[in-house]
Amino acid sequence: MRKIGLIGMGNVGATIAYTLVTKGLSDELVMIDKNEKKVVAEQLDLQDSLGRLDSNTTIKIQDYSELKDADILIITAGKVAAMGSGADGRMGELSFNKMVVADMAPQIKASGFNGIIISIMNPCDCMTQYLQEQLDYPRNKIFGTGTFLDTARMQKVVGQSFGVSANNVSGYALGEHGASQFTAWLTVQVNGVPIRTLQHSHNVDLDKFEEAIRLGGVMVFEGKGYTNFAVATCAVKLAMAVFSDAKLACPVSAYSDAYKVYIGQPAIIGKNGIESLTQIALTADEEQKMKASADIILEKVETLRH
Ligand SMILES: NC(=O)c1ccc[n+]([C@@H]2O[C@H](COP(=O)([O-])OP(=O)(O)OC[C@H]3O[C@@H](n4cnc5c(N)ncnc54)[C@H](O)[C@@H]3O)[C@@H](O)[C@H]2O)c1
Repeated sequence: MRKIGLIGMGNVGATIAYTLVTKGLSDELVMIDKNEKKVVAEQLDLQDSLGRLDSNTTIKIQDYSELKDADILIITAGKVAAMGSGADGRMGELSFNKMVVADMAPQIKASGFNGIIISIMNPCDCMTQYLQEQLDYPRNKIFGTGTFLDTARMQKVVGQSFGVSANNVSGYALGEHGASQFTAWLTVQVNGVPIRTLQHSHNVDLDKFEEAIRLGGVMVFEGKGYTNFAVATCAVKLAMAVFSDAKLACPVSAYSDAYKVYIGQPAIIGKNGIESLTQIALTADEEQKMKASADIILEKVETLRH
C-alpha cells in the first residue's frame, strides 16, 4: 500500500493532493495543516471527486501519528504571503519557516516516520538543511525540490526558443533555488545535440536564457501571488521516482560534502531517496558560481541555527 503524508495544505499542498488523488498515485493520503478549516475543506472537496475517478484514495487529516507507516512525506508548509519580490524574494519566508520547522519537527519525530522526505518550503535549500538538522534525519532520506523546478524552466525557455517540446531539452540548472542559481550549459542538449554546438548557427544568447530562467517564477508569482502547478508536478514526479525506485537522474537539493550545505546538484532518486550524487564536469566559472551559491545558503543556514 502506498501512503503519502503532506504537511501544508496551501496553494502547493492542495495542488499536490489533487494530483495524487485524481491520478490515483497514492492509496492513502494524510493531510496536515495549522489551518483546520482549510484542511477539512480540502479533504471534503477531494472526497467529492472520488465518485468520478477510476481509483480510490483514503484521505486522512490532522493526525501526525498516521505518518508512522507513510512511505513519503512532502513538506509544503509556509507562508507564501511573506515572500518578497524578485528572484531573492524566497528569503522573505526564512524566519517564519524556522518557526514552522520548530513546530512540526518534534511531531514528525514523535510519529515514528522513517520514510523519504521531500521538502519544498522556501528558501528551499536552507529549509531542507534546517529540517534535516532538527530531525537529525539521514541525509540521503531528505532532499529538496531545489533546482528541479529551475531545470524545468530552463527546458521551457530553451525548448520555446528552438521550437521543440520542453521534454526534448535535457541538462541541469544548479545551485541555490534562488537568485544565484545557474544553468550548466555544457550539460544542455536540444534533441540530443549539445546547445553549445547549436549556439552559433541559431544565434542563441545564453545570457538572455539565463535571465529568463532565473526570473522564471517571478512573472507567475506577480500574476497570481504564488506558484503551484510546476512545483507540484516536480514534487509528484520525485515521489513517484521514490515509490517505483526509478533511479531518476535529476537535479535536486541534496547535501554536498564539499560545501557542507544542501544545494541543487545532479542526483539519482530511488526508494532510498538520494541513491547517489552524479559528478559532472563544471567549467571554472561554473565552479565559482556553485561556490557563491553555497556561500549564500550557508550564511542563511547559520542564521537559522542561532
Ligand atoms: N521550492 C519551490 O520551488 C517552491 C515553489 C513554490 C512554493 N514554494 C514554497 O512552498 C511553501 C508553500 O507555498 P504555498 O503557496 O502553498 O503557501 P501558502 O501560504 O498558500 O500555504 C502554506 C500552508 O502552510 C500552513 N502552515 C503554516 N504553518 C504550519 C505549521 N506549523 N504546520 C502545518 N501547516 C502550517 C498554512 O496554514 C498554509 O495552509 C512556501 O514556503 C513557498 O515559498 C516553494
